[in-house]
Amino acid sequence: MTELHTRYLTSQTADIATAANILADGGLVGFATETVYGLGADARNSTAVARIYEAKGRPSFNPLIVHVPDLDAARCYVEFNDLAERLASAFWPGAMTLVLPIKQDAGISPLVTAGLDTLAIRVPDAPIAQQLLREFGGPVAAPSANPSGQISPTTAQHVMNGLSGRIEAVLDAGPCGVGVESTIIGCSDVPRLLRAGGIPVEAIEAALGQPLQGAKEGITAPGQMTSHYAPNGTMRLNVTDPDADETVLGFGNVDCTINLSPSGDLVQAAARLFDCLHQLNDMGAQKIAVTPVPITGLGRAINDRLTRAAAPRD
Ligand code: TXA
Ligand code: MG
Repeated sequence: MTELHTRYLTSQTADIATAANILADGGLVGFATETVYGLGADARNSTAVARIYEAKGRPSFNPLIVHVPDLDAARCYVEFNDLAERLASAFWPGAMTLVLPIKQDAGISPLVTAGLDTLAIRVPDAPIAQQLLREFGGPVAAPSANPSGQISPTTAQHVMNGLSGRIEAVLDAGPCGVGVESTIIGCSDVPRLLRAGGIPVEAIEAALGQPLQGAKEGITAPGQMTSHYAPNGTMRLNVTDPDADETVLGFGNVDCTINLSPSGDLVQAAARLFDCLHQLNDMGAQKIAVTPVPITGLGRAINDRLTRAAAPRD
């Protein structure tokens, strides 16, 4: 891969126009959403989409989420049913991705869906993402802007640390507010939770008036690899009695090196999660112990990410 000079762009209007032009030319731009930073490319341009897989070292069987500015734009690319209409009106713009049947003639590159007949689509809420999508005027494929399998980025610096030299630009809009990726809901027959994320399951079930099913065998989000978000050190979860040589990542009123939320606030813990994992890497932590985090609300997404971070690696 040729080493690129990665441009650092701000959230000023002229820089957003530059970022949109880079996308139009088939380039890759890291940009803030409310969940994590995404690595964007024109979803209609197969050469550009192929470069996302190359820059991240991402397996090509792992499909990408397409980002659009509003529901009307989403209708151009996927078939909505009643269930999806309800979810979209309740949670878009926001941290929810819907998986729906793709409109085959809508021009999305087949590399985006990795050959599936469904498309994952989302309307992000962050102002910078909205401005970029409107300025560009087309669908933007964007996975999280990190090398495959590593910790997701919640600041422009995280993106630079992982992908500098492999992408054209990063658009800095400060730290992400939510801090964990979108909740992914499969809407084909019954509503299914494919990935826990920034909108709690409880809120989605309340809006639907029915419980979410689990993922069916074989149709779970294909990128839900067991080892993911891995810090450099090993990690143990639900530890109440850490060993003397362990660096402790805590939650709530506990003795620890880094605390996700001293007051035990799951929203704050989600927002800080990936930054804390990056900090553990920067500290050179070799053995990490994590104190228990409750599995309600955003705690479900936090525990999902921690479980993958702690999983055995190849
Ligand atoms: O918050 C987010 O969702 C962020 C921001 C940038 O929008 N994006 C993100 O993308 O997390 P990524 O690529 O890291 O995760 C996308 C997940 C993967 O697990 C992928 O397998 C799944 O979505 N996915 C994509 N298309 C799918 C489809 N048609 N059916 C089921 N899962 C799909
Ligand atoms: Mg990711």
